[in-house]
Amino acid sequence: MMSTIRPGHAIATPGSRNRFAVDVRDFLTQHPRQLPSRYLYDELGSALFEAICRLPWYPLTRAELRLLEAHAREILNVGVTTAIELGSGSGAKLSALIAAAGSGRGRLDVHLVDVSESALAQARGALESFENVRILTHETTYEIGLLESVLARPFPGRRLVLFLGSNIGNFDPPGRDAFLGSVRAALDAGDGFLLGADLIKPERKLLLAYDDPLGVTAAFNLNLLSRINRELQGNLDLDGFAHHALWNEARSRIEMHLRSNRRQRIDIRGADLDFVMAEGEMIWTESSYKYDPPEIVSMVERSGFSVRAQWIDAVGRFALTLAEAV
Ligand code: TRP
Repeated sequence: MMSTIRPGHAIATPGSRNRFAVDVRDFLTQHPRQLPSRYLYDELGSALFEAICRLPWYPLTRAELRLLEAHAREILNVGVTTAIELGSGSGAKLSALIAAAGSGRGRLDVHLVDVSESALAQARGALESFENVRILTHETTYEIGLLESVLARPFPGRRLVLFLGSNIGNFDPPGRDAFLGSVRAALDAGDGFLLGADLIKPERKLLLAYDDPLGVTAAFNLNLLSRINRELQGNLDLDGFAHHALWNEARSRIEMHLRSNRRQRIDIRGADLDFVMAEGEMIWTESSYKYDPPEIVSMVERSGFSVRAQWIDAVGRFALTLAEAV
């Protein structure tokens, strides 16, 4: 993992307890109160997220997997020698893609970038058995992992950056455009970019995907409070909060919140934080923007790519967009 020195802070390693404490303090004192969603993925959070991906109400993962398998040759067998997956999770999608691409593929360097140590270990396991594939892992944020991957390029050929799971939807529009710009800036003309993004669908379906009847998504969201208790000596009472998902139609996004169901005092010693939450007050943990297919094309092209193909799954209403840096 790479260390960075940020102005105003002591040396902070992304993902370290120090960074976590600083972020919890900064974000919980903003209006509205919020927490950065990357902290959802500790060991238990990563396992809960894997469970979400298997829920019948969360069709995104299956829809995307079907598209990856159906178009694997077009995606991989075009001189790609380096694949960089940002937020690789369990590695299941990349391994399905490589398997479906079959024998036409040459040697491949795979860079897995994820903030979750347990997810990286699982992904390594999922990809280890492929021949002619070398796996490199980066336990860090998207931005740092992308730069590390690009700098470590050992042999010629095209790169392909994969950004799947509708993780793009977890940025707000300015952050999204800055992120897409930084992906383009890290690449050379001719390199590829594969983006998986969830599409607008009826509200009832969207809400079920983020507030499932089994309560797995609620547990995933609430686990962030439990992580704060464990790692930062917080006093948060999980019974005092409820998972709350809503569809913000004007902004075209699902919002995930943790709602305080009573007035309560919050004390997080490890983050040097002490405040009172009112009944009904919320902590915003995640947004998940939904798109129309042409909107995806235009945001990718605005960032310096040319779209080569866009595939849409009729059942899950999910889009996979393949672009090339120009
Ligand atoms: N990238 C995923 C998405 O937007 C992340 C996600 C799925 C998520 N379910 C969640 C984030 C529940 C927070 C809470 O679909």
